[in-house]
Amino acid sequence: MNKEGLQKISYGVYIVNTKNSGCIINTLTQVANDIIIISVNKENYTNKMLKKHKKFNITILTKNTDMQLIQTFGFTSSKDNDKYKNYHTQKDSSNIPYIKEHMAALIEATITQEIDLNTHTLFIAKITNTKKLSDEEVMTYDYYHQVKKGITPPKAPTYEKPKKGYRCSICGYIYEGNTLPKDFVCPICGAPATVFEKID
Ligand SMILES: Cc1cc2nc3c(=O)[nH]c(=O)nc-3n(C[C@H](O)[C@H](O)[C@H](O)COP(=O)(O)O)c2cc1C
Repeated sequence: MNKEGLQKISYGVYIVNTKNSGCIINTLTQVANDIIIISVNKENYTNKMLKKHKKFNITILTKNTDMQLIQTFGFTSSKDNDKYKNYHTQKDSSNIPYIKEHMAALIEATITQEIDLNTHTLFIAKITNTKKLSDEEVMTYDYYHQVKKGITPPKAPTYEKPKKGYRCSICGYIYEGNTLPKDFVCPICGAPATVFEKID
């Protein structure tokens, strides 16, 4: 199948926060007046916590969001570390934390249905509250890739295996190409070219 067409789908970039866990997602859509859907990989710890707690909130990232925050929430697991420890957090009405700085809005929701998509779970949720957090411009998925030079990790639904390249052994960033420049610096974690491993 030619998957080229899929690259033209537009998304935003979000944090889904639940009790004891949170991660970056791009797969959020409002599908009815008070209903949103999100798709979360079964290997992500956040998937387990969503199934357990049934409540979550979403914050909408803006163009000013730091890449370090995306690295923490999109490339490390809440199973291994407290992602919130270096951030100033607020609590929503269900006592679930969220980061307010450089976020455009907060959406609180309760899960009403779960659909098994094999690798991912599609969570259908009723919106219970929303709040504008700032007037900063929202970050689109395209902006994340084109301007912030962000990458797609393996557990995101939009991930495609690269054919050839070099993988950063610190954060997993993949440089696609035959030769990695000696002065290359990882755009996600700042690691030097020497820590990159060749992949075929
Ligand atoms: C830009 C971006 C988009 C992502 N989109 C999704 C997504 O839609 N669904 C998903 O399950 N993971 C997505 N991820 C991957 C998770 O954020 C990542 O696997 C995270 O480390 C999971 O953390 P956890 O184990 O604490 O849940 C995305 C990551 C990035 C950086």
